[in-house]
Amino acid sequence: MRRRRAALAVAAMVAGLGVAVAVLGLWQPWRSPSPQDTAAVAQGRVLAQPCAVCHALDRGAAPRVGPPLWGVVGRTVGGVDGFGYSRALRTADGIWTPERLDHFLADPAAALPGTAMTFGGIADAGDRARVIAFLQTLSD
Ligand code: HEC
Repeated sequence: MRRRRAALAVAAMVAGLGVAVAVLGLWQPWRSPSPQDTAAVAQGRVLAQPCAVCHALDRGAAPRVGPPLWGVVGRTVGGVDGFGYSRALRTADGIWTPERLDHFLADPAAALPGTAMTFGGIADAGDRARVIAFLQTLSD
C-alpha cells in the first residue's frame, strides 16, 4: 500500500515535470529576424514604403510629417531634437527596442494613446518583424 502511494507520488511528479517542460517549450520570447537576414530585410523595405510617405528613411534627412527613422532602433522614444512630438511621445520613457516597436507598430493608437501617428498599424506579426529587421539596418 505504502509502496503504491509512493509510486503514485513519483508518477505525479513526473507528469508535473512533463507539463512544465511542455509549457516552457511553447513559451518563446519575441524575436524579429536578424538584420543579416537579407530576404527578410528586402521584404521589410517594401513593407515600409507606406511609412516613407510620412518618414524620411535616409541618414541625416529632415523630418517630414513624422520624425526621421534613420537610427530609430535604440533611439530615445520621442528623441529627435526639434521635432514637434505629441505629448504621448514626449512623455514616454525609454528607447525603441525591437519588442517595443513591435508593440507600437501593431496598433500605434492603442500602444501610445494620443499619438499623432495616424497609421492603422501592421496587423501581421511576421510583416512587423520584417519591417523591424529593415529598420535595424537604418544605422551607421
Ligand atoms: C500618416 C503619417 C505616418 C505614417 C504612414 C507612419 N507614421 Fe510613424 N509617425 C508619424 C508621426 C506624425 C509620428 C510622431 C507621433 C507623435 O508625436 O505622437 C510618428 C512616429 C513614429 C515613431 C516614433 C519615432 C520617435 O522618434 O520616437 C516610429 C518608430 C514610427 N513612427 C514608425 C513608423 C513606421 C515603421 C511606419 C510604417 C509602418 C510609420 N511610422 C508610418 C506619422 C506616420
